[in-house]
Amino acid sequence: MAMLLETRLLFRKVKDLRSLTPRRGRVKEKWAATRAKHPPTSLALHHFDAKYSVQLGRLWPSVRVALLSERKYGALLNNFSSDAVLANLQAQGCRDFISDSDAEEYLYNLHPILSAAQSCPEPESEVGADKQEESSDGAMKKSDVDDQQRPPFLLSRNINCAVFPRGDITRFKPARPDMQGLLGYYLMDAASVLPCLALDVQEGHRVLDLCAAPGGKSLALLQTQAVRFLCVNDSSVSRTQRLRKVLRRYVPKEFLTDENIRITSFDGTKWGEIERNTFDRVLVDVPCTTDRHSLTEDDNNIFSKSRTGERRMLPKLQVELLLAGIEAACPGGEIMYSTCTLSQIQNMGVVEQAIHQAQQNHGIHLEVVDLQLVTNMFRKTFHFAPDLHLGVMVVPHLAANFGPIYMCKLKRMT
Ligand SMILES: C[S@@+](CC[C@H](N)C(=O)[O-])C[C@H]1O[C@@H](n2cnc3c(N)ncnc32)[C@H](O)[C@@H]1O
Repeated sequence: MAMLLETRLLFRKVKDLRSLTPRRGRVKEKWAATRAKHPPTSLALHHFDAKYSVQLGRLWPSVRVALLSERKYGALLNNFSSDAVLANLQAQGCRDFISDSDAEEYLYNLHPILSAAQSCPEPESEVGADKQEESSDGAMKKSDVDDQQRPPFLLSRNINCAVFPRGDITRFKPARPDMQGLLGYYLMDAASVLPCLALDVQEGHRVLDLCAAPGGKSLALLQTQAVRFLCVNDSSVSRTQRLRKVLRRYVPKEFLTDENIRITSFDGTKWGEIERNTFDRVLVDVPCTTDRHSLTEDDNNIFSKSRTGERRMLPKLQVELLLAGIEAACPGGEIMYSTCTLSQIQNMGVVEQAIHQAQQNHGIHLEVVDLQLVTNMFRKTFHFAPDLHLGVMVVPHLAANFGPIYMCKLKRMT
C-alpha cells in the first residue's frame, strides 16, 4: 500500500514538472533555433520598402498590400484543345479579357493589311557582315512601305485569356485533358499575356523566345497559330525539361516538329554568336528579382544571403540578354523586353542601356514602340503605373491582383 502511494506521488511530481514547462514555449524554442534570423522574404520586403516607397511614392502602400496578398491568375485558352473551354469558364463567371477589351474593333479590323512581306529575309547559314548589309537594306525598304499603312503596333491574334471579375478571387479548377490528352487552359498571371499580345506576331513570322521556361509565354505565342518557326531557349537544362513537358501537355505532337519548333538550352547572352539578323519577333523575358515570389517564398529566393552576388549582377545580365535579343532580330524586326519586377533599374534602366550599347557597339539603331494603347485597351482588367517615360507596367492592386509586369517594345531600324 505504501509503495502504491509513493508511485502515485512520483507520477504527480513528474506531471507537475511537465506542466511547469509550457508546451508552446518548448515548440517555439526549437523553431527559433532552426529559423533563419533574417529570412529572404523579410530581406526582400525591407529592400522593396526602401526602394519602391521612393520610386512609387503614394502608390507603394497599396501595391505592397496587394503583393503580400493572394495573387490572381488568368486561364490562357489552348486553341489546340478540342473542348469548349471558354464557354465552360464563362458559365463559371469568367470573361476573356482580350476580346472583351475596349478596343476590339481597332485590334481586329486592321489585320488584313498585314502580309508576309514584313517578314525577315531568309536567314543566311553563315551570317557575314556584307550579307547583313544587303539583307538589312532590302528589309528596310519593305517595312518602310508597310509602316506607312500600319498603326504603331497591332496585337497578336487568337490569344484568349479568361479571368474572374475585378475583386473576385475565385480560384480556377485544374485544367482537364480533352480526347487527345491536351489540356484546355494554362494558368498564369494574366498580365504575363500582355507582352505576347503586344509583340504583334503576324502570319509567317520567325519568333525567338530567349528565356522561355517554364513556357507560359511560348504557349501564348503558339496560340496565334501564325508563327512559321518558334525557337524556345532557356539556359537552365532542368527548366527546359519542364518547358518540354508543358509543350507536350498543350500542343499536338504532329505540331512539335523540327520544322516548327526548336528547343535549346543555350546561354542567351551568347545568342549573337549563334544567329544574328534572323527573327521577325524576339521575346526577352529576363530573370529578375521576381518581386511577388521574393516576398512570399523563402525557397529559391534571390534575396537569400547566398545569392546576393547573383542579385546584384541581374541588371548586367538583363542588358546582355536584351542586346543578344536585339542582335537576333532582323532589321525591321521587333523585340519585346519584359520582367516581373517593379524595379526601375531592371526595367527602364536596362532598356536605356541596351539602346545605347546597341548603337555604340553594334551600330544598331532602335526605336521605342509606343505601347500606350495597351494601357487604354486593358484598363478594365489591370492597373497600370502612371507616367512611365519608357514602356508600360502592370502594378498589383487588391481588386485586380495581377503583376507586376513591365514591358517595353523596341523596333530595329538598322
Ligand atoms: C522570367 S523567367 C522566364 C519565364 C518564361 N518566359 C515564361 O513565360 O514561362 C526567366 C528565365 O530566364 C532563364 N535564364 C536565366 N539566365 C539565362 C541566360 N543567360 N540565358 C537564357 N535564359 C536564362 C531562367 O532559367 C528562367 O527560366
